[in-house]
Amino acid sequence: MFDAEAIVDQATRKALFARVRRHTGIDMADRKWTLLHGRLRRRLQALSLSSYGDYLAVLDSSTVEVGHFIDMVTTNETSFFRTPRIWDYLWNDFLPAWYAGNAGSTLQMWSAAASTGEEAYSAAMLFEEFRQKHTDFNYRILGTDIAQRVLDVGGVGTYLGRNVEGLQKARPAMLEKYFQPDGVTHAVAPSLRAHVTFRTHNLYQRLKDPTRFDLVMLRNVLIYFDEAGQETVLENVRQSMASKAVLLVGESESLNRIRTGFTYQQPLIYRNADASA
Ligand SMILES: C[S@@+](CC[C@H](N)C(=O)[O-])C[C@H]1O[C@@H](n2cnc3c(N)ncnc32)[C@H](O)[C@@H]1O
Repeated sequence: MFDAEAIVDQATRKALFARVRRHTGIDMADRKWTLLHGRLRRRLQALSLSSYGDYLAVLDSSTVEVGHFIDMVTTNETSFFRTPRIWDYLWNDFLPAWYAGNAGSTLQMWSAAASTGEEAYSAAMLFEEFRQKHTDFNYRILGTDIAQRVLDVGGVGTYLGRNVEGLQKARPAMLEKYFQPDGVTHAVAPSLRAHVTFRTHNLYQRLKDPTRFDLVMLRNVLIYFDEAGQETVLENVRQSMASKAVLLVGESESLNRIRTGFTYQQPLIYRNADASA
């Protein structure tokens, strides 16, 4: 029976933490060992491996295994309309101001740690509502994540009942309007789906896309990186943003203590400071 708690020495743990950092940029230390072990042990069982030493050898020789590893070590928690005040800000402030200054253009949004797509589709629903008031308003949303497994869920756009419970409580009319129930699942309506694309991307690299985004959600992902990592990721993201574009971060995230090219607007809301971007 594989019992890594008992047999994994410090050097092997360090080697595993180093692989997490190498492949995702996520900063894990000893206090995260139980979490990491809990996630990896099932993989070892699936591969019929009896030690992490053997697993490291597989990981280091297989890009397919690197994909599985990334899927396992990332935390993908998300929900529709997470952090209500952000969505109120978008509806009351951002959208009217953007539309006033850019009528006839397409709003470009990037959900930069999209997980299973709830954030991207929440934005799409809000934008669709705005479009009903302003018929020439158009938008495109790119959702990216380092983990393929979660992106596949977003790409299919089909959610189980428990994933839409919060939406049902908070915005039942939207669930009714933008999802098609099918037994135990709810499928995103094709009209919404048509505006959203998903693809893999590691935030430690620059996005290979010429688009300069007007709005970027980089929420609940900076917390996994150390300060230097946060600065690298923020600069990479900023390089893909339009001048004065808006960046939204997660509830427990702040750019206050790090050096970035963003200026503070309100809690969780920043702007690209580079007027020439
Ligand atoms: C907790 S989820 C946040 C989802 C969504 N933004 C939200 O706030 O609800 C964090 C996501 O960041 C992704 N992630 C972690 N490291 C990443 C990296 N280096 N590049 C891109 N995505 C990463 C994870 O795979 C995960 O899906």
